[in-house]
Amino acid sequence: MTKPYDPKDFYYRQAKKQGLRARSAFKIDQILRRPGLLGRGQAVLDLGAAPGGFLQILADVVGEGGVAVGVDLEPIRSVGKPWVRTATVDLLAPDALDRIRALHPGPYDLVTSDMAPKTIGVKVTDEARSLELCAMAFRVAEALLRPRGAFVTKVFMGGDFPVFRRSLQARFDRVDVVRPAATREHSYECYLVGTGFGG
Ligand SMILES: C[S@@+](CC[C@H](N)C(=O)[O-])C[C@H]1O[C@@H](n2cnc3c(N)ncnc32)[C@H](O)[C@@H]1O
Repeated sequence: MTKPYDPKDFYYRQAKKQGLRARSAFKIDQILRRPGLLGRGQAVLDLGAAPGGFLQILADVVGEGGVAVGVDLEPIRSVGKPWVRTATVDLLAPDALDRIRALHPGPYDLVTSDMAPKTIGVKVTDEARSLELCAMAFRVAEALLRPRGAFVTKVFMGGDFPVFRRSLQARFDRVDVVRPAATREHSYECYLVGTGFGG
C-alpha cells in the first residue's frame, strides 16, 4: 500500500538535523555512490542549484582545490566555502552559457541539473517545460564537460522522455536511469546519469 504524502518525511527530518538546505541533498549523495562520477579536486557545475542542497554535498566531495559552481533563477545563499561560486542565472536566457563561463571557464568533470519548472498541474505542459530545461542542461553539459565527463539530470518520466534519453545515449558511453531512495514515493521523477562523454 502506498503511504500518504508526508512533507516532513524521514529525509526532510534528516536534512534539518544535518544542516542541509534541502532533502534533495540525499538524492545527489545517493547518486554519487556510483563510482567515478566525481572526486576530490575536480570541477562540478550544478544547474538549478537553489537553495543549495546538492551544492553542499558536491562542494564537500570536490573539497578545497576543487571547484563547485551553482546557478539558479533564484539567489543561492553562500555555502561559506571559497571554492564554491554561485550566480543568479536563467538557463533559458541567451547569455546563460557566457554567464556560467564567467564563473569558471571549465571544463567540468560533472554537470548536474535538478532544474524543475514551476508546475501548473497540467501533466503535458509540466512535462514539456521540464524537458525544455533538461534539453538546455544537456546543451550546457555538451559545451562545458571534459571528454569522459559525466552528466546527471532530473527528468520526469513520460512525454518525450525516451527521445531525450536516446539523445543522451548518442553522446555518452552509458546512460542509466536512477531513482534514488530519497525520491518521494508518489513522484514520477528520476535521474538520467550519463558517463563517458564523447567530447
Ligand atoms: C528542485 S529545485 C532544486 C533544488 C536543489 N537541487 C537543491 O538541492 O537545493 C529546482 C530549481 O530549478 C530552478 N529553475 C527552474 N527554472 C530555471 C531556469 N530557467 N534557470 C535556472 N534555474 C531554474 C528553480 O528556481 C529551483 O530552484
